[in-house]
Amino acid sequence: MSVPSVPAPDSRLPRHVAIIMDGNGRWAKQRYLPRPAGHRAGVGAVRTTVEQCIAIGVEVLSLFAFSSENWRRPEQEVTLLMELFIASLERETQKLHKNGVRMRIIGDRTRFAPVLREKIDAAEALTAGNQGLTLVIAANYGGRWDITEATRRIAADIERGALRSADITAGLIETHLALADLPEPDLFIRTGGEQRISNFMLWQLAYTELYFTPLLWPDFDEQAFRDALDSFAGRQRRFGFTGEQVENQKNR
Ligand code: IPE
Ligand code: IPE
Ligand code: MG
Repeated sequence: MSVPSVPAPDSRLPRHVAIIMDGNGRWAKQRYLPRPAGHRAGVGAVRTTVEQCIAIGVEVLSLFAFSSENWRRPEQEVTLLMELFIASLERETQKLHKNGVRMRIIGDRTRFAPVLREKIDAAEALTAGNQGLTLVIAANYGGRWDITEATRRIAADIERGALRSADITAGLIETHLALADLPEPDLFIRTGGEQRISNFMLWQLAYTELYFTPLLWPDFDEQAFRDALDSFAGRQRRFGFTGEQVENQKNR
């Protein structure tokens, strides 16, 4: 996986879409509402995006719901976000299960309340055998955390004599990352106009196509998602090859 081959000619649809759902607070502010109203409205955009991914056959959808840095926000907002997470798991899991969705929650769970950890475990266990869309929710997740955890596990293997430092390769590091078993994101979308990664999947985004839109997350509708997919379909992914190499491979 560390040396990707020239992309297949039919790779115009991303297998894995990763989204930073940003702009909820500003959406609320525009309407003179408190920030939580924006987060609540954002749940609707999650629903339509998931439905669209199922309909068009995207394999993996990863959503950044709460970063390891979002604990810095006012306590009230953090509490509301946690409550919303619990409520959404309660409300949506059965429906997602019926639609064949497999749920995966990535991030450091140790800081979550026991009730939230239970809901997460239950949602993952219920949907583990599903064959449809894999829905990844990144919660208390950070790309640096992910790489740090992988490093810790590798170091532990060395400590107990199961591994030598010479055996460390990019491929080995990948096997210890949160999404080791899934394809890397093909398309990254960030709403809200900010053009940064904000500690999302730092390792996994190495060759991902980046797409930024000024739309605020609660306003991200079907058309907006189609626009992002269209932008992706029009790009040439080179993975270090020349454009000509990629073209020749396509025409073979
Ligand atoms: C994204 O929206 C949701 C989370 C980070 C949980 P924001 O809350 O960051 O919205 P803005 O950026 O303040 O508008
Ligand atoms: C990134 O958004 C995290 C999530 C959407 C969950 P932020 O709004 O927290 O990012 P910054 O602070 O503007 O970079
Ligand atoms: Mg933000």
